[in-house]
Amino acid sequence: MALTREQRYKPYAEWTEEEVKKIKENAARSPWHTNFHVEPPYGLLNDPNGFSFFKGKWQLFYQYFPFGAAHGLKSWVQTESEDLVHFEETGTVLTPTTPLDSHGMYSGSAMQFGDKLFIFYTGNVRDENWLRQTYQNGVLLDSDGNWEKVPQTLIAQPDDVTAHFRDPQIFYFDGEYYALIGAQDKNEKGFIKLYKADNRDYKTWSFVADLDFDNDQTAYMMECPNLVFVDGQPVLLYCPQGLDKAVIDYHNIYPNMYKIAQSFEPQTGKLHNLSAIQNLDYGFEAYATQAFNAPDGRALTVSWLGLPDIDYPTDKYDYQGVLSLVKELKIKDGKLYQYPVEAISSLRKDEGHDVVDLPATDNVYELELTFAAHSQTEIILFADQKGRGLSIKVDSERGTVTIDRSQAGEQYALEYGQSRSCSVEPGLITASIFIDKSVFEIFINKGEKVFSGRIFPDNNQTGILAKSGKVSGKYYELDYGRKTN
Ligand code: FRU
Repeated sequence: MALTREQRYKPYAEWTEEEVKKIKENAARSPWHTNFHVEPPYGLLNDPNGFSFFKGKWQLFYQYFPFGAAHGLKSWVQTESEDLVHFEETGTVLTPTTPLDSHGMYSGSAMQFGDKLFIFYTGNVRDENWLRQTYQNGVLLDSDGNWEKVPQTLIAQPDDVTAHFRDPQIFYFDGEYYALIGAQDKNEKGFIKLYKADNRDYKTWSFVADLDFDNDQTAYMMECPNLVFVDGQPVLLYCPQGLDKAVIDYHNIYPNMYKIAQSFEPQTGKLHNLSAIQNLDYGFEAYATQAFNAPDGRALTVSWLGLPDIDYPTDKYDYQGVLSLVKELKIKDGKLYQYPVEAISSLRKDEGHDVVDLPATDNVYELELTFAAHSQTEIILFADQKGRGLSIKVDSERGTVTIDRSQAGEQYALEYGQSRSCSVEPGLITASIFIDKSVFEIFINKGEKVFSGRIFPDNNQTGILAKSGKVSGKYYELDYGRKTN
């Protein structure tokens, strides 16, 4: 049931125990809870936030509304990890409590300063006429686990933006700290602002420039901009809402795109020698991707496998949203590769088996497949006895991969199509596939192209079927260990 605005923005303390109990019980009934992905037991998860390393642990937060599958009063949930694969949730640690974030602690990032973790987030504020004002605020986490909100806003809404001004991403470059902030100008065009931290501290910020990234000026808002460096090469990841499909074809309601540059000039905010704009993911959902350079230099990313303004089949169970696996970015021959971190292989239970038709699995597994050159192959995952499920067609002659979820369980977001495809060079093609109950992540040629998405299978959709052509490879059962359904 859709929540009213009043319910969505009701103070957390006003939800009764009885109401919360109902929501929890309802969510527990879902057959689609994931096994090794981060998702809330109930309520709505959206963007990954504050991805960082602090006190010997990886920190990964997410946007959260606890009281059903709705975008309402948002908080931050914290998770911690030692291996970037197993994440332990510590709780809803950051909630809207001040006049600078009264209507939600929106997305942001994190970076260690001294012995504290600094969190840079957007405070969403509405006045009595429901007019929005945004503030870029800070919170500090000390090593004893104490949180302290910085009392004053760090960046107020400048004159040349509307109230759509959010998602600060802090990054370090050449001895200085910078932040990108997604914005909308007064003509309702999306752009990105670049700030620099004064005195290499988080306390005061100076505007540098509007980021110069060959903005095609067709989007109305740039959400979640991130600049990371892959072996020194700048990669800009961002979500240009409303991007004209004449600029680049995409199929999801909102796209998540990237550009690779040759260099970044911090004084002017210019990204030099930019690639064309590209889809970060060819699947049905991957949004609000957050990226950061880890202390060891790796460029790590994680995405929300969900989209704004889409109803999901889990909504009736009062929960929605899941995070992708953590991926590492690499650039090879000028192309961006995304692949799960190495520790993902620790989920494998055994050495794997040769791929054959499997009538039933628990829908928690990994496949490493090879499709020979000059071949046409179709496999069905989440297959039922009639062979209905998620179809993956690989044509290595033409160099195309097409996935189709029209026969896979409960359908949704139909107006955005039920299939997706991508192209690679003709010839031998590989696919590494991670299946987790209602999530699939497919990495073509070790991450040259990626398809991520949700499917909500029927009870009997658990098989793997080699429908046509010849496929070879391995099937690995996965075991997360602690998490149970
Ligand atoms: C993207 C987004 C961000 C915002 C957050 C609010 O999905 O709209 O721009 O900070 O979600 O939850």
